[in-house]
Amino acid sequence: MPLLPLTQLVCPLDQKVLLQTGNTWRCENNHCFDIAKQGHVNLLPVQNKKSKDPGDSKEMIAARRDFLNSGVYNPIAEALANTVNALCGDQDQLAILDAGCGEGYYLNSVCDALLTKDIQLQATGLDISKWAVRSCKIRNPKLNGLVASNRQIPLPDQSQDIVLCTFGFPVYSEFKRVLKPGGHIVMADPGTEHLIELRSAIYDDVRRSPPADISPALDDNWQLSVSQKVQFTSPVINAMQCEQLLVMTPHLYRASKEGRDRAAQLHDITITGDVLIRVISQSNC
Ligand SMILES: C[S@@+](CC[C@H](N)C(=O)[O-])C[C@H]1O[C@@H](n2cnc3c(N)ncnc32)[C@H](O)[C@@H]1O
Repeated sequence: MPLLPLTQLVCPLDQKVLLQTGNTWRCENNHCFDIAKQGHVNLLPVQNKKSKDPGDSKEMIAARRDFLNSGVYNPIAEALANTVNALCGDQDQLAILDAGCGEGYYLNSVCDALLTKDIQLQATGLDISKWAVRSCKIRNPKLNGLVASNRQIPLPDQSQDIVLCTFGFPVYSEFKRVLKPGGHIVMADPGTEHLIELRSAIYDDVRRSPPADISPALDDNWQLSVSQKVQFTSPVINAMQCEQLLVMTPHLYRASKEGRDRAAQLHDITITGDVLIRVISQSNC
């Protein structure tokens, strides 16, 4: 079953409907957004950019792509795919948005799992980093790709069944706006022991912070419906994978020079994966 293209977007300048003609998305006020040669569309207005090149850099995205392609985080991808599969039951149509998709590893594996069913699937990867969205389109050209912010998602109200947000920056008001009644927010966040080997090398004093607080998202209509720990020990990873892991996480930028030097010496270690998958579902519809 093929993945379906988007048919409607929302103009980031005036919130009018954007429709596609040829290689351009256009609204009634004639704001135009061209489709890039890689197939994605950039809907991040210059005035909404806090930097010239927002989000993860080209190097971070390449490191994450190579690390994830080596399969070390497969247990997380599998658990996410099983979670989404269970949520969609026997639905024959599904629209899924990955908000902060990075280079599309998790969205693509969720789609691979769903497409074994007889389902019409529309899957969109959105990220504020153009490098991320480009890489996502290279991974799978059939995924829709949007350069945009979770703060202003250029999709119509009530257009998605699922919003995926893995290791990301959730903006619950926007996630809820784009979800259809009965929709789900599927999140993956690091637990206290996640990458403890890497963090112990980098920091003198390792913080064991609990997973992100999701209570601001919960109310009478939106409730936690799934909470599942994914814990695993990786196979032995080599020096290059250790380096990729360091570059793809924020730890590289937070570490002192001594911490970075210690981390650069790591090789042939196993790492701990400790991830919490949570689903926030709209309950009273
Ligand atoms: C830690 S990475 C996770 C990427 C991917 N979800 C994964 O799990 O592999 C966080 C991603 O969020 C993106 N990002 C940061 N701020 C964002 C925002 N306001 N809106 C959308 N994406 C954002 C970054 O560019 C980066 O790709």
